[in-house]
Amino acid sequence: MDRKKFLRALDGEILAVPPMWLMRQAGRYLPEYRQTRAIAGSFLDLCFNPKLATEVTLQPIRRFGFDAAILFSDILVVPHALGQAVSFEEGHGPRLSPRLDEDLIHKLDHIDLRRLDPVFEAIELIKTALPAETALIGFCGAPWTVASYMIAGQGSRDLEAVRIFAYAHREAFARLIDILVESSVSYLLAQAKAGVEAVQIFDSWCSVLPTREFEAWCVAPVARMVEKIRNAAPDLKIIGFPREAGGNLELFASQAKVDCVSLGTAENVALARKRLPPAMALQGNLDPLALIAGGKALDASVDKVLADFEGAPFVFNLGHGILPQTPIEHVERLVARVRRT
Ligand code: CP3
Repeated sequence: MDRKKFLRALDGEILAVPPMWLMRQAGRYLPEYRQTRAIAGSFLDLCFNPKLATEVTLQPIRRFGFDAAILFSDILVVPHALGQAVSFEEGHGPRLSPRLDEDLIHKLDHIDLRRLDPVFEAIELIKTALPAETALIGFCGAPWTVASYMIAGQGSRDLEAVRIFAYAHREAFARLIDILVESSVSYLLAQAKAGVEAVQIFDSWCSVLPTREFEAWCVAPVARMVEKIRNAAPDLKIIGFPREAGGNLELFASQAKVDCVSLGTAENVALARKRLPPAMALQGNLDPLALIAGGKALDASVDKVLADFEGAPFVFNLGHGILPQTPIEHVERLVARVRRT
């Protein structure tokens, strides 16, 4: 069978019409998602129900025919498998307890991957149901982003408490990052064994760090992950998403050795292209708000994104996740525009 278009772009091939998918493409902007979500019970019940997780993974593929599906799960299943209680409260985002302190970090043990068996089962089901041309992406959070939730117990502005903790308790924080490197690698390798063909490592909150800390807590841990993954699964494609890394993008790209760098909404694409290796695949970076605006403004934004990435190995995506208030017709318009249909 021909190699999937999405994987060809990650191999470094320049395609006339780029493959596309959208971050958070399964989710609340889809009425069929809201319906399945209501049946499932809690958000984690949905993540750990292989049949329902398969259903919501496939929903955006059925509707829009994207070139890649992303496994329906969450980055916070890793803290769950490390023994922290994780819940999602409507309108409040995630809550993790107890919040980690020095003592609890020293008591942390290896990840119990059996707690994530339903995820691997979902991957096997998704693989049997996906169209032959559609790739399957697995994912995890990068150590810094996941550690930030484990320490703050929730999302937080500027991650101040977490950054202070990383300075004040450097040894304990480094131990937490090490555990997350090991855990995330085992988790991604198990996803690959179950059938994902590419993985994305989400460092959603790396941009709050000064360069020296960025190097220690974002670049170095992801670089170690990539090295370990390559040794065990050389064919697995790896996308790094150091969201809004800006001036630190080059550092990330030169050391982390991912196949593709995903650019956040605010990145300067022209500058990024000058600084990153020309053969490196890029992904991004339509503003999710332009997708909400729709109409001619959306068309113009899409055209600019296509022009910005012209001549690069490229995967069309948003600069961050699709928002719940996004009208479905706007996504249809976007797909038609990118594919020129
Ligand atoms: O992309 C996809 O469609 C796959 C599924 C996916 C989810 N979360 C489902 C989800 C992926 C790839 C994620 C990643 C994720 N989760 C990130 C990194 C990407 C990013 O957006 O920066 C982060 C930081 C999280 C943590 C998280 N999960 C938060 C902060 C929240 C609450 C905010 C919100 O959008 O409600 C979640 C919950 C979550 N994860 C939902 C979905 C569909 C919404 C919960 C629901 O449906 O009740």
